Amino acid sequence: MSKKPVIIFEGIEGSGKTLHSNFVSRYLKKKNISFIKIREPGGSKNSEKIRKLILDDNLNFNKNTDLLLYLAARSENIDLLKKYKDKKLILIDRFVDSTVAYQHYGLGVNLSIINDINKYLLKNFKINFTFLNIVNTKNMIKRLKLRKKLNRYDKFNSSFYRKVQNGFIKIAQKNKKNYLIVDSNKEIKINKKIILDKIDRLIK
Ligand code: TMP
Repeated sequence: MSKKPVIIFEGIEGSGKTLHSNFVSRYLKKKNISFIKIREPGGSKNSEKIRKLILDDNLNFNKNTDLLLYLAARSENIDLLKKYKDKKLILIDRFVDSTVAYQHYGLGVNLSIINDINKYLLKNFKINFTFLNIVNTKNMIKRLKLRKKLNRYDKFNSSFYRKVQNGFIKIAQKNKKNYLIVDSNKEIKINKKIILDKIDRLIK
């Protein structure tokens, strides 16, 4: 395993993805390990502009436009990611699995189109490890209610998020050794330890 791995955090709304990735950034800072952290959609300046457009609650794109916008946002990050690959550890809050889970499993866009464009964009940029954060419907709804502002993708019904989460789980099960499923219905402290122990093993 590379000492400067590319580590991804995936999961549906309210799955603890952002909380868990923040534990990792704080841990790496404390250990003086240099890293970059980006989110998708977003990250680079141009990709953040595309993010605003995709998630704007006053707009309503169709599922293919959404797909192309998410991929456009990714395309604007690739140079940045390649620049730091093997030089710094890379943390990414959502990446290619989100496109498969939301646009294919959630919205029914053709899977091979998504895989082909992702492959075309990524070329030989490889992910080393993914934390897939999961949550039950009750906790998801509870956590979404606490958000001050909801974006366009925070407003699907719970059966949509079930489909998306099951999609994420299917992806993780195909490649078990590179995924850890973190059950965020459990105590935060327990998950924090599980995640940081795994990070230790990934950077050793
Ligand atoms: P965030 O709120 O976690 O930053 O994510 C924004 C939303 O974008 C989230 O609902 C998931 C969605 N998304 C997709 O539908 N496809 C993608 O490829 C990505 C990266 C995110």
